[in-house]
Amino acid sequence: MALLQNNMSAQNSKSKLSYNNTWMRSTLSASQKINPSEIFDARKTLIKLIDSDEQGWMSITDNKTHLAEINKAYEKFKNFKNCLVIGIGGSDLGARAIIEALRKQDSKIKIWFTGDTTDPDEIESIFSQIPWKQTCINIISKSGGTLEPMASFFLAKERLEKAVGVKKAVKAILCTTDPEKGALLEFARENNYATLSIPQNIGGRFSVLTAVGLFPLKMAGIDITKLRLGASQMRDSWLKHFGTSHAIDQFAAWHVSHGRSNRPMHVLMIYSKALHGMGMWWRQLWAESLGKSSAAGGPTPIIFLGPTDQHSQLQLYQDGPDDKVYTFLEIEKFNQKIKVPNSIKNIPSLNYALKHDFSDLIHSAAQGTAIALKDKNKPVGIINIKNINENSLGELIMFLQIATAVAGNLYCINPFNQPGVEDSKNRVKELLTNN
Ligand code: PA5
Repeated sequence: MALLQNNMSAQNSKSKLSYNNTWMRSTLSASQKINPSEIFDARKTLIKLIDSDEQGWMSITDNKTHLAEINKAYEKFKNFKNCLVIGIGGSDLGARAIIEALRKQDSKIKIWFTGDTTDPDEIESIFSQIPWKQTCINIISKSGGTLEPMASFFLAKERLEKAVGVKKAVKAILCTTDPEKGALLEFARENNYATLSIPQNIGGRFSVLTAVGLFPLKMAGIDITKLRLGASQMRDSWLKHFGTSHAIDQFAAWHVSHGRSNRPMHVLMIYSKALHGMGMWWRQLWAESLGKSSAAGGPTPIIFLGPTDQHSQLQLYQDGPDDKVYTFLEIEKFNQKIKVPNSIKNIPSLNYALKHDFSDLIHSAAQGTAIALKDKNKPVGIINIKNINENSLGELIMFLQIATAVAGNLYCINPFNQPGVEDSKNRVKELLTNN
């Protein structure tokens, strides 16, 4: 993107992802910036958690035993024509996002998703289309006690058993859950279902690079080795960095510093339809990790899909309250090259689009919007991805996961718990028990 100045390519020459935040800095006064010693401490705290194995999501991409477990399960289930994946939140959003981003159409196995809703009309509309005789079920729940996916699982199990019989159904069910405890693990053991483990030191929203995401992705025909490699490369570039100017740290610090300047709304401006799901995944990661009571106030992540939302949200962003920061997520090279047809000259006022292709249109929309926001003194940052593939998605995932953890330390909160979510789970239980 032509906007890129002082490009920071995540300190990795091979990186397909770059991040630039020079524009927004100019809108911050020196006192509002984050002190480098704060970033240094945030890095140190996180590295300690990783080194002590208290958090396992950074090293999981090197774990060969875990990968072997996934590959073994794949061998067992690869002859099914359909795989119904059931989960919610961190047990759901990652695999969905990656499949959507890669637009995988040549897969031998069709992946279906459910478990994220208890809307009966939606559930029936999916279940009525599933060819149960050729379908396996992958229920994913770390706790094994989340109502939405578990209720959907028991319904799916009934449909499957009705289609193939109880005995055959046993061989078509895979439970991805905690390796040592929980109701789902117990149920799987009692019924002889296959299991895959979610390492205990990896929380739901940080688990996309574990069996949670990797098994459904492998079933969808996605190269999970490249995904893991991209993530490892990004992690290594961060770990090997001396100092506090790594793109990941800058991304985190920029957001937190604007939070301190009364701009707690963090908008991800996504200029690629395929990455909308990645936006949903990031929204959960950022919200559940950082939305805690803190002196700096928690952020509110917002997804903007360009150019669609230019005709919906942009007016508000341009002239509304100055409480937001904007990160553009841009793809340099799209797969398709489609020329704007010559016949557009039938409408002379649109002649300026002649000789361009559609990727010029979307790039100009992003660039024009960034310039317009910048001209109104709004803080603008840019994440640029060369093209969408397994490797660059792995990089993006690790970039955002580390940034979330660093931001959590800068906000002085624990990014790895979710007391609010647990509270709401308990209230639903109370209501259903008493009514
Ligand atoms: O990030 C998290 O921990 C949550 O979003 C969980 O992933 C979500 O609540 C689902 O939990 P479980 O996998 O235990 O069913």
